Amino acid sequence: MPEVKQVPKLAIKNLTKSFGEKQVLTGINLDVKKGESVVILGGSGSGKSVLIKIIASLISPSAGSIQIDGEEVTNINSKNRDKLMEKFGFLFQGGALFDSLLVWENIAFRLLYQKKMNKKDAREIAMQKLKAVGLSERTADLYPSELSGGMQKRASLARAIASAPEIIFFDEPTTGLDPIMADVINNLIVSNSKELGATTITITHDMHSARKIADKVAMLYEGKIIWFGDVKNMDSSENAYLDQFIHGRAEGPINFLAK
Ligand SMILES: Nc1ncnc2c1ncn2[C@@H]1O[C@H](COP(=O)(O)OP(=O)(O)OP(=O)(O)O)[C@@H](O)[C@H]1O
Ligand SMILES: [Mg+2]
Repeated sequence: MPEVKQVPKLAIKNLTKSFGEKQVLTGINLDVKKGESVVILGGSGSGKSVLIKIIASLISPSAGSIQIDGEEVTNINSKNRDKLMEKFGFLFQGGALFDSLLVWENIAFRLLYQKKMNKKDAREIAMQKLKAVGLSERTADLYPSELSGGMQKRASLARAIASAPEIIFFDEPTTGLDPIMADVINNLIVSNSKELGATTITITHDMHSARKIADKVAMLYEGKIIWFGDVKNMDSSENAYLDQFIHGRAEGPINFLAK
């Protein structure tokens, strides 16, 4: 029987992004299957956050193609863009909670305002998600400013997963968390992809976390993905750049000077 080719959940071709003279992404190609967990590695300033914001339609690329479920989304109209955005969950690097909303309202934001769920049901889901990220019910009725940095991060994570999105972007989900809480969050990311079938794209500098959550690893350097493969092949890649990065060596081919 001929093999049926599955349409990738996400297919990126020749994607570039410049800010003025500065070329941040110079030709990204990446295919991600449904339910797969991809971890993006790369030095500070290498364009990781820019890349996932472009995929999530939060900033526009300079050129190239992005297909989600086989549909081109780079030149989408605003009505279809709103529909597309419902597929996405996003944990921002800095958390980015709404200061004027209570913690539970932040978590339930989309359920309330996009899915028009009633308050009682939305609060119920927010409570479940709070628990999943290791926050007590008491935190539900606090404002984000009343939480510690790590607690804000976890509340942001609860918001990213609350509407059960199809594709979830996690920008440094474990940075600033203690090792036990980091493990809780790693498990949560794994369960979102393995049990709920979400496709996840995670940026992390934490190699322990990367090994735990990744099916596939993509290493970004000088605007391109210089290594992409199964996490189990990461240690035998014989790629000097990836090797230097995963072992955190100061010496090696990677030029750390910001361009
Ligand atoms: N809106 C913007 N306007 C101009 N330049 C930008 C903008 N956003 C990002 N950049 C630049 O793009 C480059 C990549 O930024 P990005 O935030 O993607 O880095 P990163 O890989 O996520 O780094 P880190 O690990 O420190 O978070 C940086 O040089 C940054 O200054
Ligand atoms: Mg970043």
